[in-house]
Amino acid sequence: MIKKDFVLSYKAQVIIACGVSAIITLFAMMASVMAAAGTANGGGEAALGDPAAIKTGEATFYQNCVYCHGSKGSGGSARALQCRDMKPDYIFETITNGRINGANVMPPWKDTFDEKARWQLVAYIRSLRTLPECDSNN
Ligand code: HEC
Repeated sequence: MIKKDFVLSYKAQVIIACGVSAIITLFAMMASVMAAAGTANGGGEAALGDPAAIKTGEATFYQNCVYCHGSKGSGGSARALQCRDMKPDYIFETITNGRINGANVMPPWKDTFDEKARWQLVAYIRSLRTLPECDSNN
């Protein structure tokens, strides 16, 4: 009788141990899938709203984009980028592959900036949608 109880409780322990390790494995798998997704887009959308990413994006913008898109994206030979609620994916895609509007051509930037740098640009451009000057423009 005592021996049988022991066997049952041993089985129960094994079942519990299996259950726990299955759950741990599942969480580990989920974590690694999420980490892989994060690296795949170079931090991607994590850059949005991140002050450091916005600052780096701003520096890149002033070196490469300002002569067409103007100071703070106010426009020039290309459309203004400020005060506009463009989708992050749309901005990223445009920076990556460029755009042509008649005689106005924006070159693709995918060979110039890696994904991380392009998302920093997206973060900066997104930050321009709520500038103080937007109130008077609209
Ligand atoms: C040689 C000029 C030029 C440069 C440099 C340039 N762009 Fe553009 N960009 C354009 C043109 C032209 C368009 C197409 C829209 C338009 O102005 O008619 C455009 C469109 C865009 C759009 C989409 C706007 C819309 O209305 O659909 C984004 C976002 C953008 N550019 C970001 C950038 C960023 C970021 C850089 C710097 C890495 C950059 N551009 C550099 C000319 C330029």
